[in-house]
Amino acid sequence: MKLVSPLWSAALLALATALPAAEPIKVGEIASLTGKEAAFGQSSHKGTVLAVEQLNAAGGALGRPLELLSEDNQSKSGESATVARKLLSREKVVALLGEVASSRSLEMAPIAQRAKIPMISPSSTNPKVTEVGDYVFRVCFIDPFQGTVMAKFAKETLKARRVAVLTSVSSAYSVGLAKYFKERFVADGGEVALEQKFAEGDKDFKAQLTAIRAAGVDAVFVPGYYTEAALISRQARELGLALPLFGGDGWEAPQLIEIGGKAVEGTYYSTHYSPEDTAPAVQAFVAAFRARWNGETPDAMAALGYDSALVLADAIKRAGGTDGPAVRDALAATKGFAGVTGTTNIDPARNASKSAVIVTIKDGQFKFVQSVAP
Ligand code: PHE
Repeated sequence: MKLVSPLWSAALLALATALPAAEPIKVGEIASLTGKEAAFGQSSHKGTVLAVEQLNAAGGALGRPLELLSEDNQSKSGESATVARKLLSREKVVALLGEVASSRSLEMAPIAQRAKIPMISPSSTNPKVTEVGDYVFRVCFIDPFQGTVMAKFAKETLKARRVAVLTSVSSAYSVGLAKYFKERFVADGGEVALEQKFAEGDKDFKAQLTAIRAAGVDAVFVPGYYTEAALISRQARELGLALPLFGGDGWEAPQLIEIGGKAVEGTYYSTHYSPEDTAPAVQAFVAAFRARWNGETPDAMAALGYDSALVLADAIKRAGGTDGPAVRDALAATKGFAGVTGTTNIDPARNASKSAVIVTIKDGQFKFVQSVAP
């Protein structure tokens, strides 16, 4: 017995070919997939890919699948602007996700703004990023908050009264975080006894660390990225500096421990989320991420990359379309969106205010210390 008559199957085939497959919604992503900050870009990218796959499995947005077009800026300055232009003019993406690092977000933001295409940085914390214009958003906290969190932590937990600050002058993120940390630490009665500088890519920090050793401080704040933070920790220990070293979210990468080894034991940094969080949504995300990416545990960038795509899809659904101004307005109206990095409420300055998490390194592992509410 035939289940479908030949006539019927011919009719079904005609119908299927007459109905065009729903046109995908093109979303651009810009990340440092290779180069110096590849750990950041890869993490963020993996989180974003997982979110898009889960969204598509659940029907996409507006009955259409999302198509993620990812561009690698190779961690190079200048490159994010070039690939942003390409995604906008050639691919006609409806939104841009990225970048992780503030300096690179600052390069692509004016291009999104001029094109009236919304951009969401998952994790750039420098205030200037969203100040570029009303099409620029982020789903993370900003550095005035992060600087305050670490200033209070230094005073209250590390019991530091005099500190040194070692800043990367070529990173907008580092310069900003150093400034906000100092302001709060000094306002709370602490003293910044010494400031030292370095640049991205430097390998030798002995001169700065020798000056810090001579200054006799209680602790050293290093608002930089993980490669330099790990090298600074090693060289500090080699010079016999046994004081606490601490930093911000730029420290967050497995390479901190891989490069830093024993030297990063007992250091601290602030970040956006902890995979140790027992909230069911976080644990479901950690399990799904591990299943998708070879058992890897998602870090803060992965979690923020994931949330950035979910927040965008939610806005597209509420906008009822993909026009830049409509999606922008829907993003600006985001309230109470539950993600894996906490609840996203977009404020009038297009930032998200969220709790910070403080992490330490113990026995070669990242360990949750405390959560700090905004
Ligand atoms: N916040 C950093 C910046 O703005 C980037 C970063 C995000 C680093 C998340 C680590 C984790 O440049």
